[in-house]
Amino acid sequence: MKLGIDHIPYEWIEQIISLSAERIVVVDRDGVIRYISDSYCDFLGTTVEYATGRYVGEIIENTRMHIVARTGQAELASVQPINGSEMIANRYPLIVDGELVGAFGTVMFRTPDEWRDYNRKIQPLIQELKFYKTKFENELKSKYSFDDIIGNSPSFMAVKQFAERISVSQSGVLLLGESGTGKELFAHAIHNNSTRAAFPFVPINCASIPDHLLESELFGYEEGAFTGAKRGGKKGQLQVANYGTIFLDEIGDMPLAMQSKLLRVLQEKEIQRIGSQKTIPIDVRVIAATHRDLEKMVLVGEFRSDLYYRLNVIKIEIPSLRRRTEDIVPIALNLLKKLEKKFNRQGIELSKKASERLKLHSWPGNIRELENVLERALNVLDGKMIDLFHLPLYLRDIEPVMQETRIHIDSICQEKREELKSLKEEIALAEKNTILRAINASGGNKVEAARLLQISKTTLYDKCKLHNIK
Ligand SMILES: Nc1ncnc2c1ncn2[C@@H]1O[C@H](COP(=O)(O)OP(=O)(O)OP(=O)(O)O)[C@@H](O)[C@H]1O
Ligand SMILES: [Mg+2]
Repeated sequence: MKLGIDHIPYEWIEQIISLSAERIVVVDRDGVIRYISDSYCDFLGTTVEYATGRYVGEIIENTRMHIVARTGQAELASVQPINGSEMIANRYPLIVDGELVGAFGTVMFRTPDEWRDYNRKIQPLIQELKFYKTKFENELKSKYSFDDIIGNSPSFMAVKQFAERISVSQSGVLLLGESGTGKELFAHAIHNNSTRAAFPFVPINCASIPDHLLESELFGYEEGAFTGAKRGGKKGQLQVANYGTIFLDEIGDMPLAMQSKLLRVLQEKEIQRIGSQKTIPIDVRVIAATHRDLEKMVLVGEFRSDLYYRLNVIKIEIPSLRRRTEDIVPIALNLLKKLEKKFNRQGIELSKKASERLKLHSWPGNIRELENVLERALNVLDGKMIDLFHLPLYLRDIEPVMQETRIHIDSICQEKREELKSLKEEIALAEKNTILRAINASGGNKVEAARLLQISKTTLYDKCKLHNIK
């Protein structure tokens, strides 16, 4: 004799079900409710009479019972929001005589008190999860916009306006400029202003990732692809950046072998994880940047010419700070505002002398160097006014003439444009250049210019005559 539930009277079964700690619903293959417990109906604000015989989607919010009744796939411990509460739902297929006949579902918490107890435990975890989720999403967001890029000199404005205009295009961008000129800032701003802004911005510094790791970083890998590969494999950054932008910083440092692989991605618009044959389509805009002379690298075979042409669809050259001296003080003031927050101080000013001296320096490290100089000044500043003596020695003590000579030679070396003349001619040229800048900086006042250069008025007049300066 088969012993089973039919040995229990029907009323007993009803009682057992209503006492069980969970709310219960049973649907047939069409998702129509065949049974629903009283307690579930109470929680839903309906009645057994009304709910029974109706399509489950009409009665239960966010239900998936009709899906389980079709697929036969159980769904366990899934979180289901009902009436603004997150419930734990279990859904099982009902298989009778080997045939899928419907589904049986439970949601946890029989009484409001029980729910409140669980809620107290679960809600903080859900909140924590939400916190990490937004943190993770924010980290992939670009942090700066064009409003954060300071500078009104004509050369800089032209570059900024051009970058703003092309940000909506889907083409790749190549950002060139000396170290510290703001290449990364531009990359962020371009992404932020593009149609991809809602999607990730993923920066990769090709120079700081060891050559042998760069491939797995960009493409990802399958589980077991190599010794040390993480269980479950890893997504590549190109895939993380899907629909968004990948910023390949220091692209000039990318090894040749990787350059070929990157070129293939740009052409085929798909990637393969290491250890996998499967191709994954990707839609990513590439912004690349380097302070190196890529054209020269192409000539000497250190950079693939085909990749160079592909990246170079839109080229943006950011001018160095020494080519836009009028931007130095406005940028310095803007940086001071940021530093005030960092140091929790207010009302920091820049003296006229200090400003003038900042304008005379050649800034080989560009805005990053300026940032460092100002941060150092704040560290040694007691009052509110940054003066000459708060600047580092190399800015304050070097004889301006010597300094200017260095500026001139610096710019020649960095720009590699002009040929070097004899030392005597170079010094003469530097002297003339310095005097012109000092006169310019003092608004045409030669007495002030002489003071800036720390020479007597007569010496300045003599030198002006010598260099034919009116
Ligand atoms: N025009 C600007 N206005 C305000 N701040 C700027 C500007 N340009 C750069 N900065 C600031 O200067 C610093 C250096 O900029 P960034 O990192 O973008 O330079 P980079 O060109 O990428 O340098 P590197 O080649 O050394 O990586 C950053 O802190 C940035 O916020
Ligand atoms: Mg950078």
